[in-house]
Amino acid sequence: MPALVLLGAQWGDEGKGKATDLLGGSVDYVVRYQGGNNAGHTVVVGDQKYALHLLPSGILSPGCTPVIGNGVVVDPAVLLSELSGLADRGVDTSKLLISGNAHLITPYHTTLDKVSERFLGKRKIGTTGRGIGPAYADKINRVGIRVQDLFDESILRQKVEAALDSKNQVLAKLYNRRAIAVDQVVEELLGYADRLGGYVADTTLVLNNAIDQGQVVLFEGGQGTLLDVDHGTYPFVTSSNPTAGGACTGTGVGPTKISRVIGILKAYTTRVGAGPFPTELHDEDGEKLRTIGGERGVTTGRDRRCGWFDAVIARYATRVNGLTDFFLTKLDVLTGWERIPVCVAYEIDGKRVEELPYSQTDFHHAKPVYETLPGWSEDITQAKTFDELPKNAQKYVQALEEMSGAPISAIGVGPGRDETIQINSFL
Ligand code: GDP
Ligand code: IMO
Ligand code: MG
Repeated sequence: MPALVLLGAQWGDEGKGKATDLLGGSVDYVVRYQGGNNAGHTVVVGDQKYALHLLPSGILSPGCTPVIGNGVVVDPAVLLSELSGLADRGVDTSKLLISGNAHLITPYHTTLDKVSERFLGKRKIGTTGRGIGPAYADKINRVGIRVQDLFDESILRQKVEAALDSKNQVLAKLYNRRAIAVDQVVEELLGYADRLGGYVADTTLVLNNAIDQGQVVLFEGGQGTLLDVDHGTYPFVTSSNPTAGGACTGTGVGPTKISRVIGILKAYTTRVGAGPFPTELHDEDGEKLRTIGGERGVTTGRDRRCGWFDAVIARYATRVNGLTDFFLTKLDVLTGWERIPVCVAYEIDGKRVEELPYSQTDFHHAKPVYETLPGWSEDITQAKTFDELPKNAQKYVQALEEMSGAPISAIGVGPGRDETIQINSFL
């Protein structure tokens, strides 16, 4: 069992942090492969709650080496403040490894993210404003700044100059903002070099060697399948590939090394930011899910949009990720509903559709076709085995498994590490 991927099967915030932390004690490396500090992963250990943005959730497990892969975009100021915040709470952060090929988020990326959203007005994506899109755009446009550039002042200066040449025109002429001085950016970035230098490594080599030696590597996705720039609800997506393939390109580990792909799946659905969401609820049930589920963004504090479980999306996640397992989270949040609707298909312009439509127009027209399952009222947070769940909760899980196309191997019944029913081992 050398390498496994753990990723979001919906629109993010499925509980990846908790699931990663749960496995952290049994794996040697936990690796972020895409995204940046747009992520907000919550981990609850005993009475302590941690919100991680850029650091892999494995950092909380002693013995596990956390890695930031080449596919991640790194805001150095955020990274350093996250590291010092954890160190202040007694967490050992010394083992962290950062790929020298990861790209940096600089202050001009964050500025551009915010002004371009403002410019889009009603059509905005609702980004986290963390500079993610502009940093990935520069990477693809070959004018990005990489972590390794921090250690060569002359190259750094040339690259910042090249990047700012055109950006300053855009900032000044299009967005009516002040131009950003090259010297100021270079000076700020150089200021991070000393503090980050000790963490930088050839992470591709480290990870492949570890796998060859039989060590266990866990790839932790940020965001989720439907936020993937290729496979998600484009353009209402993030700018990276949270889907399973991203784990390979984002770390330099080949697909033949990955033996398991675990989709984290919330027992209902949430989404933050703009974009289509067929099962979204605008009524009391939506409000109840938000309140009981604590559905407020970890990164931006925005209320999450809430809706019923959507099996069409789950099936799609199974397909595009080659999922071997699901980890179903937040089943406890559904306790207390007499009946629970589940979306089993869509109706699009009068036709029943079982699979996620590839056309944006069709998806915008998709109306959920619901089946209603009987609910349960018993508290399930103490359940340790599947048999301890009330019969209707068991039936709900079994129905979801049948519709979703991969076995549900674990069930979350609360935010804590221990509040988990393990059905099949992941390792
Ligand atoms: P992530 O971005 O996928 O890591 O998820 P978030 O941390 O943004 O949001 C998930 C929230 O649900 C966090 O507050 C978790 O502590 C919490 N959570 C995770 N699993 C469970 C569960 O099984 N039950 C309950 N009640 N909360 C959970
Ligand atoms: P985790 O890892 C939920 C959403 C934003 C916006 C879109 C693009 O905690 O699941 P971006 O800033 O990435 O350019 O924003 O993606 N988004 C997330 N939604 N969970 C996340 O991360 C998200 N990261 C980005 O709300 O709609
Ligand atoms: Mg989150």
